Parts: sequence; C-alpha cells; structure tokens
Amino acid sequence: MILEEARKRYIDFFVKRWHVHIPSAPIVPENDPTTLFISSGMQPLVPYFLGLPHPEGKRLVNSQTSFRTEDIEEIGDNRHTTFFEMLGNWSFGDYFKKEQLPWLFEFLTSRDEGLGLDSRKLFVTTFSGDAESGMMVDAESVGIWKSIGIADDHIFSYGARKNWWSRAGVPNKMPVGEIGGPDSEVFYDFGTPHDVRFGEECHPNCDCGRFIEIGNSVFMQFIKQQDGSFKELPMKNVDFGGGLERLVAATRNDPDVFLIDVFNTARIMLERRSGNPYGSSAHIMRSFRIILDHIRAASFLIASGIRPSNTEQGYVLRRLIRRSIREVGKLGIKDAVLADISEEFGAVYAGTYSFVLEATEVIREELEKEERQFKKTLEHGLRELEKMGNHVDAFTLFTTYGFPVELTMEIATERGVSVDLSAVQEQMEKHRVLSRTGAAQKFAGGLADHMEKTVRYHTAHHLLLKALQMVLGPDVHQRGSNITSERLRIDFSYGQKMTPEQKAKVEKIVNEKIIEALPITRIVMKKDEAERLGADHEFGANYPEQVSVYSVGPKSATEADPSFSEAFSIEFCGGPHVRNTAELGTNGARFRILKEEASSSGIRRIKAVLE
Ligand code: ALA
Repeated sequence: MILEEARKRYIDFFVKRWHVHIPSAPIVPENDPTTLFISSGMQPLVPYFLGLPHPEGKRLVNSQTSFRTEDIEEIGDNRHTTFFEMLGNWSFGDYFKKEQLPWLFEFLTSRDEGLGLDSRKLFVTTFSGDAESGMMVDAESVGIWKSIGIADDHIFSYGARKNWWSRAGVPNKMPVGEIGGPDSEVFYDFGTPHDVRFGEECHPNCDCGRFIEIGNSVFMQFIKQQDGSFKELPMKNVDFGGGLERLVAATRNDPDVFLIDVFNTARIMLERRSGNPYGSSAHIMRSFRIILDHIRAASFLIASGIRPSNTEQGYVLRRLIRRSIREVGKLGIKDAVLADISEEFGAVYAGTYSFVLEATEVIREELEKEERQFKKTLEHGLRELEKMGNHVDAFTLFTTYGFPVELTMEIATERGVSVDLSAVQEQMEKHRVLSRTGAAQKFAGGLADHMEKTVRYHTAHHLLLKALQMVLGPDVHQRGSNITSERLRIDFSYGQKMTPEQKAKVEKIVNEKIIEALPITRIVMKKDEAERLGADHEFGANYPEQVSVYSVGPKSATEADPSFSEAFSIEFCGGPHVRNTAELGTNGARFRILKEEASSSGIRRIKAVLE
C-alpha cells in the first residue's frame, strides 16, 4: 500500500467513528519554549487532556508531521527516521480501552477499511505495573486483547520503561504538571531471524529488528503533583500514535521503511547519480538512508521557516544537511545533489503538504548555501589538522571547527599518523550524553519551571496587541508571534518606527490593565460569529469552523451570553492564559518594551518582558 492511501484509510476509519479530522500542527511548535520540535501528535493537544474543551469535540484524528532529534544517531538502519508522520486518534474523556483496542485491531487487519495486515503477525504489549511509583498493572488491556482473539503467546507485559508513556519517560522522571499513563503497544513480526547478540530469546521489545513497533495506545490518565504523587486527570483520555511509514512497511511485509513509495523517486535519483544500486552494500545502504531521511526532514524544516544556524532548531537542521553532504561524498557524487533530492520530496508530498513544494526555491538556496559554508569549514579544519602534525586531536577538531571525526580518521590513517580511536570515541560518547541530557533538561525543566511564566507572557501578548491598536490605529494586526518563558515577541503590521512616546503609551496601557486585575474568559463559538464580534486573529492563519476565543475583562462573557461589548481585548486563541491579568504583576513585575525594530517591509517587531 502507498503512504497516501494508508493515511487516508486511517483518517476515514476514525471519521466514520465520529472523530473530527484536524490538520497537522506546524512541526515547529508555536509559543512553546519547552521543546524544539513537535515529536508526537499529542503535543499540541496537552491543554485538552488537562480538561480544556477542544473546539472540535471529544474525538479527534489526524496525521501529525513529527521530528525526533534523539533519533539522529540511529539513522542508517532500516526503521529509524528523524522526520515521520504520526497517525493519531484521541479521546478526551470519551471512549477508553474497550473501544480503542478493538478499533485499532480492526483498522490494522481489515482489508476493506484498514491496512489488511495478517493478524498472526501482530504482537501486543501491556503495562505490568511500577513498584517505584505505585502504578498498578493494566490487566484490563490484557483481557481486551484476549477477547479480540490475540493469542496468549502474542501478549507480553513490561514495566514502566517500556509500557508507560509521558513525554519525559517513566513516572519518576516526569516533571510536575506533566501528564502520562500506561500504554499498550502493537508490534509487527517481520519474521527476520533473531540475532543472539541482542539476547538469547527474542520478544517484541528486543532490538534485533524482527519486531517493529507500529503503534501505541496511551491511556492518558495521570498528572504529576507538586509533592511527587500522581493525581487522576479529570477525565480518562486515549492518545494513540502510529508510525505511518512503519505501518506502510508492514503492509509490504518488508521492514525497510526506505523502500516505501515516498522514498522511491529520491532513491532512484541517488542510484543514478552515484552509479550504485541501493542494496549493493551495507555501507551504501546506510549512506542512502541517511541522505533520504535527512533531506526529507530538512525540506520540511526549511519549508516551515527554519534556517541553518548554530542554535536550537537551526543547529539541528545544520547537522542534518552537513551529515548528508558527508554521505553524498562517500557515495562519490561530485556535483550538488541535495536540492534535487529535496525537489523529489516536494513533489511526492504536494497533495498533502503543498508548502514544501511551494518552498522549492528557498530550500534550494539554503541547501546550496550550507554546502558552500561546509566546504569552508572543511578547508579550515584541514588547515588546523595540518598544524597539529603528529598530535591530531580529532575531538577538538570536531567540537571547535565542526570537522567530522570520521574524516579526521581517514586523513590521519592516510598519512600514517595514529589517532587513539577509542579515546576519541569515549570523548565523543561523553559529549553526546551531555548534549542529550541538555536537550532532555530543556524539555523537563521547561515544563516544570517555566510553564507559568510562559502563560503570563501569552496573556501579556494579548494586552500588547490591543494597546498597539489603541495607540497606532486599528490597522495594526498580528503577523507573527513567539513566546518563551523569558520574553514575548510580536510581529505586527505597521509602516513606521514607533516614537518613544508611542512606546511609553503602549507600556502604560498594558501596565494599567495589569493593575485593573481583569478576568480572562474563554468561550468556544462559530468562526464567523467570532469574526462578527470583532475578535482579532492572525492574518493568513487557518482556523477551524469552531474557534476558541479569549476575552480580557472587564465583564466576563459566557457561552450563554457571549457579549464582548465591554471586553478590553478579544482574540481567537487556543490558550492557555492566566485567569486574571493581576497574575502578570507577580512579584511587582512591570511590562516593558525591550526593542522595537523592523521585521520586514511594513512589519514591525517588538520584544517585551515582564520584570
Ligand atoms: N504519544 C504517544 C507516542 O508518542 C502515542 O508514542
């Protein structure tokens, strides 16, 4: 089956079961400083698991473009990719295990409506409990799987490390405020012989490659409390995630995801340009996979507005491109090829993600620029390497000059200079662990410590937009925004530089609204109704038919009486927000504009803080 067909069948299957199809959220999260990329379908939906009603209802389905940085090092085998689509269906306090597991089974096995997989090749896992956090065994899921007809020897139970899902891992790793729950995974048995290097006995979670996880139903039930205990969420939720590429591989009964249709044209192009068939050797296959994965990911990231740089998302993008360049070199391809490969992906995804094809020119420019810069890095690194003489320090060359370790090893070997490979590997491993921990901390720390501040900035952002309209005129509209726990940033339409007086006026209005301690209300209403009431929204953004609207005092509007006539500001917004503007003045904080500058023609940018 081709990917597009599998995606469509999944969406249709759940729409038929009263789910609303929501679009994929942008792969780079908006207003969420805690994480660099969307790495699962549930991530943009967290507020709704916590009890906020979703404007589209209690049952949702989608295919979410996702990116996982932790998988970069693993790319090269037959099943890992950094970028992937995650099929997701959700229940917010509606259906639970009894519906989810049978539906999933039906989708996987039905020939008419689903993927038509052979049920004898499916293995499932369930949660065996966790003594450390006191979480109970999930016997109910075992019972449901049996009642569907899954044989006893296809049902396995594991502890929290394998069958508990939260974005931060096992229960004890979850920061305060994080949500999670026991899960039940489905694996497909590709039947490849077991490799004893991975353990004597094979089982679904064995890493030998025989079993590949294709889906995970999380029973999102708990939230971590300040005192370390867990509280039941107000409602029992289902969060299902299925790897679309892997599911398609299962329909082909071939574990190599790089052989599914979406990689075909790019793979064939690489074969032609390198003169090597994909399967000709393990090395060649690895290079192909790295290039195919990384360039597909890079195309989506660039089309989503990321540019190569030395920080955050830009750094990850840079790594993807540079690794690809190295692999292209290994394949003996001399001319620039990355942009051509990217174009193939643009064409393949044109039906569903047309923004990639539309960004063809920018992607080409960025890839070519990065290729040129990387060449310079290599030349610089080579000069440093020369200077090092017989004492080649591959680690420093890598960390300081970005010069690839493998390349150092090649050149040193060529010259008969010996480099202590194990020492370098040890240093590199330490470096990797450190940067991984850094990434994990950014995530965990973000949720635990910064959530409240970010929410405050979000509300301040609404006050600021309104204040700008009051001072500069009603034609001011939001054109972009970015909020972290440290500051807020807004891009808005306005043709001139603001005067110091105008800035002071805006600051004064926002601070007055903080002092007035205005309540904030959210209600869900029809989009055109909200527009009629004058709710502000970002130009060009796509909104669903039912929208969530936030108003800031003085009178609170209710669903029954959505009269915003006395509200200070009204905006289309998914939240979250503080309950009262007084919270923005916590610890005597005042609103202050740090910077006002041009962002692009006719668009100004403000950075502001609450300090
Ligand atoms: N959120 C779950 C996962 O990513 C479904 O596996």
